[in-house]
Amino acid sequence: MAQPRYLSFNGEIVPYADAKVHVLAPGVKYGAGVFEGIRGYWNERKGEMFLFRLKEHLDRLQYSMRVMRYEHSLTSEMVEAQILAVVRANALREDVHIRPMVWVDGDGEMQSPGPIGWMVAALPRPSNPAVQNGVNVGVSSWQRIPDTSMPARVKATANYVNGRLAGMQGKLDGYDNVLLLTNRGHVAESPGSCFFMVRNGRPITPSITSSILESVTRATVIELLGEIATAPTDEREIDRTELYAADEAFFCGSGQEVQPILTVDRLPVGDAKPGPITRRLQERYFALVRGETNDHAEWLTPVWNPG
Ligand SMILES: Cc1ncc(COP(=O)(O)O)c(C=O)c1O
Repeated sequence: MAQPRYLSFNGEIVPYADAKVHVLAPGVKYGAGVFEGIRGYWNERKGEMFLFRLKEHLDRLQYSMRVMRYEHSLTSEMVEAQILAVVRANALREDVHIRPMVWVDGDGEMQSPGPIGWMVAALPRPSNPAVQNGVNVGVSSWQRIPDTSMPARVKATANYVNGRLAGMQGKLDGYDNVLLLTNRGHVAESPGSCFFMVRNGRPITPSITSSILESVTRATVIELLGEIATAPTDEREIDRTELYAADEAFFCGSGQEVQPILTVDRLPVGDAKPGPITRRLQERYFALVRGETNDHAEWLTPVWNPG
């Protein structure tokens, strides 16, 4: 991983090496952390970087802290200011991935609600080639965490133990990515993105009660598919065998963007090429996030020339 020169640490811009957490902090001992993954897109023509749907990510960070019962006075305005500051401090004029993270600091025990520590990192991150090429996917034998055990709908660092196990097994089995099922056997999501399929012209995605992260990109895609597809998106349970009837399928997320799925369990999705609705969605999505169109300008936060 490339190391940025500066990070934002507890509200200050500091050199990378100075951002340190004690080994006895509950964030380390018990995985008591929440975070966000936000993309910034560089628009060369406009000489500007646009952060995509910053407000929604900051709202989710507040919600994650609420669910985890952190006692804190960290506002979205404070996090936003440090996001802008850390991009500027590193003079980033390229596509980036931004990670704000909040953890339980100090040396408390498992149920300590604070004090909190927080940081923001911004790293260069071009699109993965999988956005163009697509991915081959297997259904994992690991189940997605149910809401009665862990809060899949919030972005808690500890949730990613579940995704790590599934993703590592998937790699060993020769897949690019995996799909996890819920504990009731319905499709949930991948370790880092949400799932959509298209069947007979109708987009379908697991509902937000299917043990998924309440994804910002998923909400964006549902809205964009409303303009592109011939039918509105169905948000409902999907059985494993229904995957094998998909004409098109793709993953979506801030980090993974829109990645076409070519095969599931080695069965071709359609003709095992990115489908026409997926390609149209990608065109629309990338024009929008990079600020090439002016519609949904409210979703874009400029970094260098705000206001
Ligand atoms: C488990 C999981 N699901 C879905 C997503 C997509 O969420 P978003 O679109 O808000 O980035 C992510 C990535 O952040 C994720 O980690």
